[in-house]
Amino acid sequence: MRRHYQYLNLDFLPLNDMDALPVYARISLIPKDNINQDLIDYLGEHALEIDHAAIFYARPGFNEGIIHVDGEKFDLEGEWPSRCKLNYVVGDTSTTTSWYDVSLEHRIKTKYAQTAIQSKFYAFDQSICTEIERVALGPWHLFESGIPHTIVNSSNKPRWCISYSLRKVEHPGWVTFSEVFKRLMSPSFNG
Ligand SMILES: [Fe+2]
Repeated sequence: MRRHYQYLNLDFLPLNDMDALPVYARISLIPKDNINQDLIDYLGEHALEIDHAAIFYARPGFNEGIIHVDGEKFDLEGEWPSRCKLNYVVGDTSTTTSWYDVSLEHRIKTKYAQTAIQSKFYAFDQSICTEIERVALGPWHLFESGIPHTIVNSSNKPRWCISYSLRKVEHPGWVTFSEVFKRLMSPSFNG
């Protein structure tokens, strides 16, 4: 099974202002001036950049998330693409993330959709998905968003996921999980 996540031990916060996390929109863009410079510097040391940044809010008891893969333009009949995000979750261990398998014959019965911030995703009905891994994530971790996934917040507290879509400095577009893993986990990697 492909790796779905990797915890990171980072000693800085994702945002300059962690006090005003949104509680109305499910998804909202993070203004550039609220991204912690320590994070930008850390990624730059490993030849990575932030493509775009968003906050996903899940109210207490949220369980209506859609199973989806992030992005668009992938081969439905091939292997799932790898698309790596760097996430920071605020929440307790009652908030879980799951990844799913979808049989090939059902993948064509799906559709692209668009979030409130114009990012694309490809949605799958729960009835055709089989859960393959469930974990309570947080705070810092790499996240595989190219494999069908969703979250549930079973707790009585809000849950936020501060999510950075990454790219390589030398190449626009999505970067794979294994490429980010290699760059961040190899002390000697400098591009
Ligand atoms: Fe996603």
